[in-house]
Amino acid sequence: MMTMPLFLIFLLHVATPISADLRPGFYQKTCPEAESIVRDVMKKALIREPRSVASVMRFQFHDCFVNGCDASMLLDDTPTMLGEKLALSNINSLRSYEVIDEVKEALEEACPGVVSCADIIIMAARDAVALTGGPDWEVKLGRLDSLTANQEDSNNIMPSPRSNASYLIDLFQNYSLTTKDLVALSGSHSIGQGRCFSIMFRLYNQSGSGKPDPAIEPIYREKLDKLCPLDVDQNVTGDLDATPVLFDNQYFKDLVAGRGFLNSDQTLYTFPQTRGFVVLYSKNQSLFFKDFVRGMLKMGDLQSGRPGEVRKNCRVVNGRPSHLLLESPSIMEGDVRGSYNKDDGVIVD
Ligand code: HEM
Repeated sequence: MMTMPLFLIFLLHVATPISADLRPGFYQKTCPEAESIVRDVMKKALIREPRSVASVMRFQFHDCFVNGCDASMLLDDTPTMLGEKLALSNINSLRSYEVIDEVKEALEEACPGVVSCADIIIMAARDAVALTGGPDWEVKLGRLDSLTANQEDSNNIMPSPRSNASYLIDLFQNYSLTTKDLVALSGSHSIGQGRCFSIMFRLYNQSGSGKPDPAIEPIYREKLDKLCPLDVDQNVTGDLDATPVLFDNQYFKDLVAGRGFLNSDQTLYTFPQTRGFVVLYSKNQSLFFKDFVRGMLKMGDLQSGRPGEVRKNCRVVNGRPSHLLLESPSIMEGDVRGSYNKDDGVIVD
């Protein structure tokens, strides 16, 4: 019972919706081409490998939930800092970092030292959705890039594919994101793929029962069993919905039909608190689009309030001697972090 309030305090310190400095058209004077440069690179990425734009869109979630939208997840490990790329939810899973590198290179050529990597993630996520048939919207910009990253925070915060709706509702609430935001944002799984690794438990041992998740529709289960037999290479991937390169409301139709890929997806239909939104979005795509945009904007407002910079290379901080990284202030140390209920947030198989 003690864990949640402490966890709440911890989160309120590390990422709150402070959008005061963020505004549309932030680079209008300093880099007027910024948004079209990002979109052009994303278009090329989509043609080269359709899944890559989904992979980049996912960055916004994994960046903004861990100490705010500050591109901390793009930092490579250094001898003194364990980055977020190898965190539990990211290792062997987050991909297409090279698309962001390509965007950054193009932006550095056009306007050196101006556009932050944190803003690139926000623009690229929007473009991924718009380019795959989803809504287009104006993003707020003006974020700074972090001076450090924190693998442990990512481990503690990012939800496992086993999570149920009630856990996810609480998690999102910590970021001022409502149950509706949670369901709408989960609609991002309208594009992209997941690994067998993420669904083995629900195919063969849901909640330790030795049986599959009863919520999976039988024909779909047969398909998943074939894709992911017990001895499969768990990096084999399957589509998150029936139209994985199209951003649409098929994801919600699939959930209603018991054809959700991840447990965390299907649970949104199983749980009474979230079910209504799933049904609504399955019938009304424009409402889904509207609520999705609202959720992305709210998530994009999350900031830690810590000092930052505009990185020249999204993978490394600007010419900072490594000993200074060790000295950067950390408010994540101590009992608060240790009190988090890890059972629900960590992948154990
Ligand atoms: C609600 C809680 C969420 C959970 C538990 C979750 C979990 C996951 C998992 C387990 C995967 C597959 C990873 C793998 O098997 O390697 C995945 C993929 C993905 N997630 Fe989420 N996710 C959530 C919310 C979100 C949000 C809010 C977004 C973006 C706004 C997002 C965007 C994506 C995308 C686009 C993919 C496919 C990536 C690709 O194809 O490379 N997810 N998610």
